[in-house]
Amino acid sequence: MSTADPPSPPPTPEDLERLAAGLAQGAAAVVRDAGIEGLAVSAKSTATDLVTQVDRDTERWLVDELALRRPEDAILGEEGGGRTGTSGVRWVLDPIDGTVNFVLGIPVYAVSVAAEIDGVVVAGAVCNPVSGELFHARLGGGGHLDGRRLGERREVPLSRAVVGTGFSYDAEVRSRQVAALAPMLPRIGDVRRLGAASLDLCFLAAGRLDAYFETGLNPWDHAAGGLVATEAGCLVSGLHGRPPSERLYAAAGPALAESFFALLESEGADSVRD
Ligand code: IPD
Repeated sequence: MSTADPPSPPPTPEDLERLAAGLAQGAAAVVRDAGIEGLAVSAKSTATDLVTQVDRDTERWLVDELALRRPEDAILGEEGGGRTGTSGVRWVLDPIDGTVNFVLGIPVYAVSVAAEIDGVVVAGAVCNPVSGELFHARLGGGGHLDGRRLGERREVPLSRAVVGTGFSYDAEVRSRQVAALAPMLPRIGDVRRLGAASLDLCFLAAGRLDAYFETGLNPWDHAAGGLVATEAGCLVSGLHGRPPSERLYAAAGPALAESFFALLESEGADSVRD
């Protein structure tokens, strides 16, 4: 931009939602086309925390697209594809959320793309390359699945609730997570460990799960899915009045939230990494 150029107008949440959706679908096509034949897989934080060449190539594709379309924006990518920016917009990218599922050929993984303005997530999209399902939302605009507005959900008591969760890649934390979960199990309906936090949150938004909690999530795991869930009317929180964080990310439909969060508090679900 030369000094004579007028500053570009700030993007609207609608613009960012449209772009997030297009990027998530485009990146999902990159993942789908790559497939898993001859896949190069390596480990990150622990031997069970996997990354593949497809994760890296897909993040590169997203970063290159954003460099063309919104060169002044910052980026935070799971695989290190970050950059600083000057526009106040930051993109939070997970090229494959659910990499272990991807490697195993379990069709529960997704590309997650979110846009923040001044640190607040204002738009996001989550696309499953296998099913093609696209979840998307913008702040104040509702959560959607393939253009259909989300918000209807069954109302069940905690004793029948199906709760999504996930476990750490660190074996010691995992054993404490299981110790906190064990006493909860008889008091809820069942648990699901689907393996992709972004989809857990979108499934909650769509009424496919009744509640969700996890410790140790990174921003790229929850940025887009968390917005889809809140825009579909779910409550997202930490425990003891704290905001959701790496310590604990908990979410539920409004009818279940109070009893669910109280159960998590009673079992110290947010202390497993202390
Ligand atoms: C992981 C998945 C998993 C969750 C982990 C995440 P990744 O993301 O979302 O469900 O339990 O906390 O790290 O490593 O597949 O991108």
